Amino acid sequence: MRNNPQGVLNVLYHERQVGRIVLTPENLCAFEYSEDWISGGFAISPFKLPLQKGVFIAKRSPFEGNFGVFNDSLPDGWGRLLIDRMLLKKHIDPAAVSILTRLAIVGNGGMGALEYRPEYPLVSDTMISDLATLAKEAEAIQSERIPDNLEELVQAGGSSGGARPKVLIKFGAEDWLIKFRAGIDPKNIGENEFLYSQAARLAGLDMPETKLFEGKYFGTLRFDRKPNGAKVMMLSASALLDADHRLPALDYNDLLASTLALTRDFGEVEKLFRLMCFNVLSHNRDDHAKNFSFLYDEGKWSLAPAYDLVYAAGLGGEHATAVDGEGRNPTGEHLLRAAAKIGLSPRRANKIIGEVREVVQAKLSRFLKPEISERNSF
Ligand SMILES: Nc1ncnc2c1ncn2[C@@H]1O[C@H](COP(=O)(O)OP(=O)(O)O)[C@@H](O)[C@H]1O
Ligand SMILES: [Mg+2]
Repeated sequence: MRNNPQGVLNVLYHERQVGRIVLTPENLCAFEYSEDWISGGFAISPFKLPLQKGVFIAKRSPFEGNFGVFNDSLPDGWGRLLIDRMLLKKHIDPAAVSILTRLAIVGNGGMGALEYRPEYPLVSDTMISDLATLAKEAEAIQSERIPDNLEELVQAGGSSGGARPKVLIKFGAEDWLIKFRAGIDPKNIGENEFLYSQAARLAGLDMPETKLFEGKYFGTLRFDRKPNGAKVMMLSASALLDADHRLPALDYNDLLASTLALTRDFGEVEKLFRLMCFNVLSHNRDDHAKNFSFLYDEGKWSLAPAYDLVYAAGLGGEHATAVDGEGRNPTGEHLLRAAAKIGLSPRRANKIIGEVREVVQAKLSRFLKPEISERNSF
């Protein structure tokens, strides 16, 4: 790494040193908490990096030698494409860029609260133009044309996660994440996601504020930022459980049990159960391990509000996260079995299923024929 000859990357949270990462000769990440952090901090990935002395070495898989919690800081899909284009523009081979350098490129601009130093900034501050221009350029880059304002796109969306083009933008004191259409999306994907978010809120899900910008771009208020700009620690289910989000690696039973183990709060378990019901009933089958997150704030973990809810056919027509073993055609019985396994009473589970179903039928039925009629029985 050019500006970091020692090859040591510091991890920070709210300006405090959490620990340090180096690469082993095999290109695996080795991480150690700092002594100061051990005495007064918290485990940034409770199941994989418990708060204790000593060096942790990451496995090769599923994060190419990285730890899940740091892998969460790296852009995937869209953001990675932008960074790689930017590296190419600077005549650097993206394949030769190590995980540590990629984290240094993220620097203090990542999602969640972790920051990495020394930074390796790829772009200097540029002015962000209007959303329509950014959306057009985002479309251009997907069709292989290098847009004129690559730097601007990198600055606005280079550290975001997820596959779709997106920008992270401040409006006054508020931090928003705004998504654009990916090539394979229907034309009105933004409006669709907005309708889903409204239905989800009505169905009792914990949803951040959402807006349709300029009548077509879906925006969600970032829950990893507080109104005063403070950063909130965020950990995806993928990172918590070492679950590859590209493969159907999860079952809601594991996710519900992990939520209970992490948060020790049955209210959070119910929150996830309701989200699962919504995903099943509204046919959101893109419910992979990076589409669930947890937040750490004021000394405790909670399930993050819901995001990325939209009609999705799913890989091979299946839910990425199975419902009590069933990915293809989960029914009310599967939902109830999942409830029983985590200790949610049939009465409470049926009430939640009923509330979600009622809203989905009233607000989203046009997305769901014929699925909804199949499911009328529960
Ligand atoms: N309101 C939000 N606040 C904070 N982080 C968010 C919010 N919405 C999404 N994210 C984060 O951004 C990532 C990408 O968003 P997502 O809606 O999943 O986009 P995509 O459709 O590209 O997958 C998510 O995996 C999550 O980490
Ligand atoms: Mg997503």
